[in-house]
Amino acid sequence: MGLNQVYRSVVLGVAGQPWIERLITTKGRPLALRFVAGETLEEALKAVEALEAEGVHGILDLLGEMVTSEEMACRFKDQILELIEAFGRLPYPRYVSLKLTQLGLDLSEELAYRHMTEILERARAAACFVRIDMEDSPRVDATLRIYRRLLEAGYTNVGTVLQAYLRRSEADLEALLPYKPNLRIVKGAYKEPPEVAFTDKRTVDRQYLALVRRNLEAGNPTAIATHDERIIREMKRWVRERGVPEELYEFQMLYGIRRDLQRALAREGYAVRAYVPYGRDWYPYFSRRIAERPENLFFVVRGLLRG
Ligand code: FDA
Repeated sequence: MGLNQVYRSVVLGVAGQPWIERLITTKGRPLALRFVAGETLEEALKAVEALEAEGVHGILDLLGEMVTSEEMACRFKDQILELIEAFGRLPYPRYVSLKLTQLGLDLSEELAYRHMTEILERARAAACFVRIDMEDSPRVDATLRIYRRLLEAGYTNVGTVLQAYLRRSEADLEALLPYKPNLRIVKGAYKEPPEVAFTDKRTVDRQYLALVRRNLEAGNPTAIATHDERIIREMKRWVRERGVPEELYEFQMLYGIRRDLQRALAREGYAVRAYVPYGRDWYPYFSRRIAERPENLFFVVRGLLRG
Protein backbone atom coordinates (compact mmCIF):
# COMPACT_ATOMS: atom_id res chain seq x y z
CA MET A 1 0.00 0.00 0.00
CA GLY A 2 1.37 3.47 -0.88
CA LEU A 3 2.22 5.96 1.87
CA ASN A 4 -0.62 8.25 0.77
CA GLN A 5 -3.14 5.46 1.26
CA VAL A 6 -1.76 4.51 4.68
CA TYR A 7 -1.94 8.16 5.76
CA ARG A 8 -5.52 8.54 4.46
CA SER A 9 -6.65 5.31 6.03
CA VAL A 10 -5.18 6.20 9.45
CA VAL A 11 -6.58 9.76 9.44
CA LEU A 12 -10.07 8.66 8.36
CA GLY A 13 -9.98 5.84 10.95
CA VAL A 14 -9.03 8.25 13.75
CA ALA A 15 -11.53 10.88 12.51
CA GLY A 16 -14.28 8.30 12.94
CA GLN A 17 -13.70 8.12 16.70
CA PRO A 18 -16.58 9.90 18.47
CA TRP A 19 -14.30 11.75 20.93
CA ILE A 20 -12.18 13.15 18.09
CA GLU A 21 -15.34 14.28 16.29
CA ARG A 22 -16.55 15.98 19.49
CA LEU A 23 -13.19 17.70 19.98
CA ILE A 24 -13.00 18.99 16.41
CA THR A 25 -16.63 20.07 16.11
CA THR A 26 -16.44 22.05 19.34
CA LYS A 27 -12.91 23.50 19.09
CA GLY A 28 -12.09 23.24 15.40
CA ARG A 29 -14.81 25.38 13.81
CA PRO A 30 -12.56 28.35 12.95
CA LEU A 31 -10.15 25.89 11.32
CA ALA A 32 -12.90 24.36 9.19
CA LEU A 33 -13.45 27.78 7.61
CA ARG A 34 -10.32 27.21 5.58
CA PHE A 35 -12.20 24.56 3.56
CA VAL A 36 -15.86 25.37 4.23
CA ALA A 37 -17.54 28.65 3.22
CA GLY A 38 -19.60 28.87 6.43
CA GLU A 39 -22.60 27.33 8.09
CA THR A 40 -25.33 29.36 6.35
CA LEU A 41 -26.61 29.76 2.78
CA GLU A 42 -25.93 33.52 2.97
CA GLU A 43 -22.25 32.88 3.70
CA ALA A 44 -22.09 30.40 0.81
CA LEU A 45 -23.67 32.89 -1.63
CA LYS A 46 -21.14 35.54 -0.53
CA ALA A 47 -18.34 33.07 -1.24
CA VAL A 48 -19.75 32.54 -4.75
CA GLU A 49 -19.77 36.31 -5.36
CA ALA A 50 -16.14 36.56 -4.22
CA LEU A 51 -15.14 33.74 -6.57
CA GLU A 52 -17.00 35.31 -9.48
CA ALA A 53 -14.98 38.49 -8.95
CA GLU A 54 -11.89 36.34 -9.70
CA GLY A 55 -13.42 34.75 -12.80
CA VAL A 56 -14.19 31.44 -11.07
CA HIS A 57 -17.75 30.05 -10.93
CA GLY A 58 -19.20 28.40 -7.83
CA ILE A 59 -20.65 24.95 -7.21
CA LEU A 60 -22.78 25.10 -4.08
CA ASP A 61 -22.85 22.07 -1.85
CA LEU A 62 -24.99 21.85 1.25
CA LEU A 63 -22.99 19.54 3.51
CA GLY A 64 -24.73 16.49 4.90
CA GLU A 65 -24.45 12.76 4.37
CA MET A 66 -25.33 9.44 6.01
CA VAL A 67 -28.87 10.54 6.83
CA THR A 68 -30.72 8.14 9.16
CA SER A 69 -34.41 9.08 8.92
CA GLU A 70 -36.90 9.98 6.21
CA GLU A 71 -37.63 13.22 8.00
CA MET A 72 -33.95 14.20 7.89
CA ALA A 73 -33.75 13.32 4.19
CA CYS A 74 -36.84 15.48 3.48
CA ARG A 75 -35.35 18.36 5.41
CA PHE A 76 -32.16 18.20 3.34
CA LYS A 77 -34.18 17.99 0.12
CA ASP A 78 -36.15 21.11 1.15
CA GLN A 79 -32.95 22.96 2.01
CA ILE A 80 -31.50 22.06 -1.41
CA LEU A 81 -34.68 23.39 -3.08
CA GLU A 82 -34.21 26.62 -1.11
CA LEU A 83 -30.59 26.74 -2.17
CA ILE A 84 -31.56 26.40 -5.84
CA GLU A 85 -34.14 29.20 -5.48
CA ALA A 86 -31.59 31.51 -3.83
CA PHE A 87 -28.83 30.66 -6.29
CA GLY A 88 -31.32 31.31 -9.12
CA ARG A 89 -31.61 34.93 -7.98
CA LEU A 90 -27.87 35.54 -8.58
CA PRO A 91 -26.72 36.57 -12.05
CA TYR A 92 -24.17 33.73 -12.31
CA PRO A 93 -24.10 30.22 -13.75
CA ARG A 94 -25.93 27.95 -11.29
CA TYR A 95 -24.58 24.62 -10.27
CA VAL A 96 -25.11 22.51 -7.16
CA SER A 97 -23.59 19.27 -5.93
CA LEU A 98 -25.28 16.85 -3.58
CA LYS A 99 -24.96 13.40 -2.11
CA LEU A 100 -27.62 10.72 -2.46
CA THR A 101 -27.18 9.58 1.16
CA GLN A 102 -28.26 13.11 2.07
CA LEU A 103 -31.53 12.45 0.22
CA GLY A 104 -32.14 9.12 1.97
CA LEU A 105 -30.29 6.57 -0.21
CA ASP A 106 -29.46 4.37 2.78
CA LEU A 107 -33.13 4.26 3.77
CA SER A 108 -34.56 3.58 0.31
CA GLU A 109 -33.27 3.96 -3.24
CA GLU A 110 -36.80 4.93 -4.32
CA LEU A 111 -36.89 7.78 -1.79
CA ALA A 112 -33.55 9.16 -3.00
CA TYR A 113 -34.75 8.89 -6.62
CA ARG A 114 -38.00 10.72 -5.84
CA HIS A 115 -36.13 13.50 -4.06
CA MET A 116 -33.78 13.79 -7.03
CA THR A 117 -36.65 14.23 -9.50
CA GLU A 118 -38.14 16.98 -7.34
CA ILE A 119 -34.77 18.72 -7.15
CA LEU A 120 -34.15 18.39 -10.89
CA GLU A 121 -37.57 19.87 -11.74
CA ARG A 122 -36.82 22.90 -9.56
CA ALA A 123 -33.27 23.11 -10.92
CA ARG A 124 -34.55 23.04 -14.51
CA ALA A 125 -36.79 26.05 -13.78
CA ALA A 126 -33.78 27.90 -12.32
CA ALA A 127 -31.40 26.88 -15.16
CA CYS A 128 -29.30 25.06 -12.60
CA PHE A 129 -27.09 22.01 -13.16
CA VAL A 130 -27.02 19.29 -10.48
CA ARG A 131 -24.03 17.03 -9.88
CA ILE A 132 -24.47 13.83 -7.88
CA ASP A 133 -21.24 13.34 -5.91
CA MET A 134 -19.85 9.83 -5.62
CA GLU A 135 -19.58 8.44 -2.10
CA ASP A 136 -17.86 5.32 -0.77
CA SER A 137 -17.74 2.09 -2.79
CA PRO A 138 -20.77 0.27 -1.29
CA ARG A 139 -22.94 3.09 -2.69
CA VAL A 140 -21.56 3.23 -6.22
CA ASP A 141 -24.01 0.74 -7.78
CA ALA A 142 -27.09 2.48 -6.39
CA THR A 143 -25.73 5.92 -7.36
CA LEU A 144 -25.13 4.83 -10.95
CA ARG A 145 -28.55 3.12 -11.10
CA ILE A 146 -30.27 6.33 -10.02
CA TYR A 147 -28.21 8.40 -12.43
CA ARG A 148 -29.12 6.13 -15.38
CA ARG A 149 -32.78 6.17 -14.36
CA LEU A 150 -32.78 9.98 -14.30
CA LEU A 151 -31.26 10.10 -17.79
CA GLU A 152 -33.81 7.58 -19.04
CA ALA A 153 -36.54 9.80 -17.58
CA GLY A 154 -35.25 12.62 -19.79
CA TYR A 155 -33.41 14.87 -17.30
CA THR A 156 -30.50 16.61 -18.97
CA ASN A 157 -29.39 18.95 -16.16
CA VAL A 158 -27.72 16.21 -14.15
CA GLY A 159 -24.32 14.53 -13.98
CA THR A 160 -22.38 12.29 -11.66
CA VAL A 161 -18.82 11.45 -10.65
CA LEU A 162 -16.39 8.60 -11.31
CA GLN A 163 -13.44 7.98 -8.98
CA ALA A 164 -10.12 7.05 -10.62
CA TYR A 165 -8.95 5.03 -7.60
CA LEU A 166 -11.75 2.46 -8.00
CA ARG A 167 -10.78 -0.63 -9.97
CA ARG A 168 -14.31 -0.76 -11.39
CA SER A 169 -14.45 2.79 -12.82
CA GLU A 170 -13.19 1.93 -16.30
CA ALA A 171 -15.99 -0.64 -16.70
CA ASP A 172 -18.51 1.79 -15.18
CA LEU A 173 -17.55 4.40 -17.75
CA GLU A 174 -17.91 1.97 -20.64
CA ALA A 175 -21.39 1.01 -19.38
CA LEU A 176 -22.38 4.68 -19.08
CA LEU A 177 -21.14 5.83 -22.50
CA PRO A 178 -24.34 4.90 -24.40
CA TYR A 179 -26.14 7.39 -22.10
CA LYS A 180 -23.80 10.26 -23.11
CA PRO A 181 -22.96 10.95 -19.46
CA ASN A 182 -21.91 14.30 -18.03
CA LEU A 183 -19.09 13.26 -15.70
CA ARG A 184 -16.78 14.76 -13.16
CA ILE A 185 -13.62 12.71 -12.81
CA VAL A 186 -11.93 12.75 -9.38
CA LYS A 187 -9.21 10.65 -7.79
CA GLY A 188 -11.42 9.51 -4.87
CA ALA A 189 -11.49 10.58 -1.23
CA TYR A 190 -12.78 7.67 0.88
CA LYS A 191 -11.13 4.90 2.87
CA GLU A 192 -11.33 1.87 0.56
CA PRO A 193 -9.80 -1.62 0.80
CA PRO A 194 -7.10 -2.58 -1.73
CA GLU A 195 -9.40 -5.14 -3.39
CA VAL A 196 -11.65 -2.24 -4.37
CA ALA A 197 -9.28 0.67 -4.97
CA PHE A 198 -5.80 1.06 -6.47
CA THR A 199 -3.34 2.01 -3.77
CA ASP A 200 -0.53 3.28 -5.95
CA LYS A 201 -0.62 6.97 -6.92
CA ARG A 202 0.86 6.36 -10.36
CA THR A 203 -1.87 3.84 -11.23
CA VAL A 204 -4.59 6.18 -9.94
CA ASP A 205 -3.15 9.05 -11.99
CA ARG A 206 -2.95 6.86 -15.10
CA GLN A 207 -6.58 5.76 -14.69
CA TYR A 208 -7.56 9.39 -14.03
CA LEU A 209 -6.20 10.53 -17.39
CA ALA A 210 -7.66 7.50 -19.18
CA LEU A 211 -11.16 8.19 -17.83
CA VAL A 212 -11.09 11.89 -18.71
CA ARG A 213 -9.79 11.21 -22.22
CA ARG A 214 -12.25 8.39 -22.88
CA ASN A 215 -15.27 10.49 -21.89
CA LEU A 216 -14.05 13.47 -23.92
CA GLU A 217 -13.22 11.31 -26.95
CA ALA A 218 -16.81 10.07 -26.82
CA GLY A 219 -17.89 13.72 -27.04
CA ASN A 220 -19.31 13.96 -23.50
CA PRO A 221 -19.05 16.91 -21.09
CA THR A 222 -16.29 16.29 -18.56
CA ALA A 223 -15.22 18.12 -15.42
CA ILE A 224 -11.52 17.66 -14.71
CA ALA A 225 -11.66 17.91 -10.92
CA THR A 226 -8.17 17.89 -9.44
CA HIS A 227 -5.49 20.15 -7.97
CA ASP A 228 -2.78 17.99 -9.51
CA GLU A 229 -0.76 20.36 -11.68
CA ARG A 230 0.81 17.54 -13.67
CA ILE A 231 -2.60 16.23 -14.68
CA ILE A 232 -3.92 19.72 -15.41
CA ARG A 233 -0.88 20.50 -17.59
CA GLU A 234 -1.25 17.22 -19.48
CA MET A 235 -4.97 17.76 -20.05
CA LYS A 236 -4.40 21.31 -21.30
CA ARG A 237 -1.90 19.91 -23.82
CA TRP A 238 -4.22 17.04 -24.81
CA VAL A 239 -7.34 19.12 -25.41
CA ARG A 240 -5.33 21.63 -27.45
CA GLU A 241 -3.73 18.91 -29.57
CA ARG A 242 -7.07 17.18 -30.15
CA GLY A 243 -9.02 20.39 -30.71
CA VAL A 244 -11.59 19.42 -28.05
CA PRO A 245 -14.39 22.04 -28.06
CA GLU A 246 -14.14 24.39 -25.06
CA GLU A 247 -17.72 23.78 -23.99
CA LEU A 248 -16.98 20.07 -23.39
CA TYR A 249 -14.55 20.42 -20.50
CA GLU A 250 -13.78 22.54 -17.46
CA PHE A 251 -11.47 22.47 -14.47
CA GLN A 252 -12.88 22.08 -10.98
CA MET A 253 -11.20 22.49 -7.60
CA LEU A 254 -12.21 22.67 -3.98
CA TYR A 255 -12.90 25.87 -2.04
CA GLY A 256 -9.78 27.09 -0.27
CA ILE A 257 -7.41 24.75 -2.11
CA ARG A 258 -4.98 26.09 -4.75
CA ARG A 259 -6.80 29.38 -5.20
CA ASP A 260 -3.73 30.62 -7.07
CA LEU A 261 -4.14 27.85 -9.63
CA GLN A 262 -7.90 28.45 -9.92
CA ARG A 263 -7.30 32.13 -10.67
CA ALA A 264 -4.43 31.44 -13.06
CA LEU A 265 -6.51 28.99 -15.14
CA ALA A 266 -9.43 31.42 -15.23
CA ARG A 267 -7.07 34.19 -16.40
CA GLU A 268 -5.81 31.92 -19.17
CA GLY A 269 -9.41 31.67 -20.35
CA TYR A 270 -10.32 28.17 -19.13
CA ALA A 271 -13.69 27.50 -17.52
CA VAL A 272 -13.01 26.99 -13.80
CA ARG A 273 -15.43 26.10 -11.04
CA ALA A 274 -14.80 25.84 -7.32
CA TYR A 275 -16.79 23.50 -5.12
CA VAL A 276 -18.17 25.61 -2.27
CA PRO A 277 -19.32 23.50 0.68
CA TYR A 278 -21.35 25.02 3.48
CA GLY A 279 -23.61 23.93 6.31
CA ARG A 280 -23.49 22.68 9.85
CA ASP A 281 -22.54 19.07 8.97
CA TRP A 282 -19.03 19.95 7.89
CA TYR A 283 -17.14 17.33 9.91
CA PRO A 284 -16.96 14.38 7.40
CA TYR A 285 -16.02 16.73 4.55
CA PHE A 286 -13.37 18.42 6.69
CA SER A 287 -11.93 15.00 7.72
CA ARG A 288 -11.52 13.98 4.08
CA ARG A 289 -9.60 17.19 3.31
CA ILE A 290 -7.29 16.56 6.28
CA ALA A 291 -6.79 12.98 5.09
CA GLU A 292 -5.56 14.24 1.71
CA ARG A 293 -2.51 16.03 3.00
CA PRO A 294 -0.29 15.76 6.11
CA GLU A 295 0.24 19.56 6.06
CA ASN A 296 -3.49 19.96 6.71
CA LEU A 297 -3.26 17.74 9.77
CA PHE A 298 -0.40 19.88 11.14
CA PHE A 299 -2.53 22.96 10.47
CA VAL A 300 -5.36 21.49 12.58
CA VAL A 301 -3.13 20.25 15.40
CA ARG A 302 -1.35 23.64 15.55
CA GLY A 303 -4.71 25.43 15.58
CA LEU A 304 -6.09 23.23 18.37
CA LEU A 305 -2.96 23.66 20.49
CA ARG A 306 -3.16 27.43 20.12
CA GLY A 307 -6.77 27.12 21.32
P1 FDA B 1 -3.75 14.74 -5.19
O1 FDA B 1 -4.34 14.25 -3.91
O2 FDA B 1 -2.74 13.89 -5.88
O3 FDA B 1 -3.14 16.16 -4.90
C1 FDA B 1 -2.43 16.91 -5.88
C2 FDA B 1 -1.98 18.23 -5.25
O4 FDA B 1 -3.15 19.01 -4.92
C3 FDA B 1 -1.28 18.10 -3.90
O5 FDA B 1 0.10 17.89 -4.08
C4 FDA B 1 -1.61 19.42 -3.25
O6 FDA B 1 -0.78 20.44 -3.77
C5 FDA B 1 -3.00 19.70 -3.70
N1 FDA B 1 -4.01 19.19 -2.73
C6 FDA B 1 -4.76 18.08 -2.86
N2 FDA B 1 -5.60 17.94 -1.80
C7 FDA B 1 -5.33 18.98 -0.98
C8 FDA B 1 -5.85 19.38 0.27
N3 FDA B 1 -6.80 18.72 0.92
N4 FDA B 1 -5.34 20.50 0.84
C9 FDA B 1 -4.38 21.22 0.21
N5 FDA B 1 -3.84 20.87 -0.99
C10 FDA B 1 -4.31 19.78 -1.57
N6 FDA B 1 -14.08 12.75 -4.18
C11 FDA B 1 -14.98 11.74 -4.14
O7 FDA B 1 -14.65 10.64 -3.69
N7 FDA B 1 -16.27 11.96 -4.58
C12 FDA B 1 -16.66 13.15 -5.11
O8 FDA B 1 -17.82 13.30 -5.53
C13 FDA B 1 -15.72 14.21 -5.16
N8 FDA B 1 -16.04 15.44 -5.65
C14 FDA B 1 -15.06 16.38 -5.86
C15 FDA B 1 -15.35 17.58 -6.50
C16 FDA B 1 -14.34 18.47 -6.82
C17 FDA B 1 -14.67 19.74 -7.54
C18 FDA B 1 -12.98 18.17 -6.45
C19 FDA B 1 -11.85 19.10 -6.81
C20 FDA B 1 -12.70 17.02 -5.76
C21 FDA B 1 -13.72 16.12 -5.44
N9 FDA B 1 -13.44 14.95 -4.74
C22 FDA B 1 -14.40 13.97 -4.68
C23 FDA B 1 -12.15 14.80 -4.02
C24 FDA B 1 -11.10 14.04 -4.82
O9 FDA B 1 -11.46 12.68 -4.88
C25 FDA B 1 -9.70 14.16 -4.18
O10 FDA B 1 -9.73 13.59 -2.90
C26 FDA B 1 -9.18 15.58 -4.06
O11 FDA B 1 -9.48 16.32 -5.21
C27 FDA B 1 -7.64 15.59 -3.89
O12 FDA B 1 -7.04 14.94 -4.97
P2 FDA B 1 -6.32 15.71 -6.20
O13 FDA B 1 -6.97 15.27 -7.45
O14 FDA B 1 -6.29 17.15 -6.00
O15 FDA B 1 -4.86 15.05 -6.28
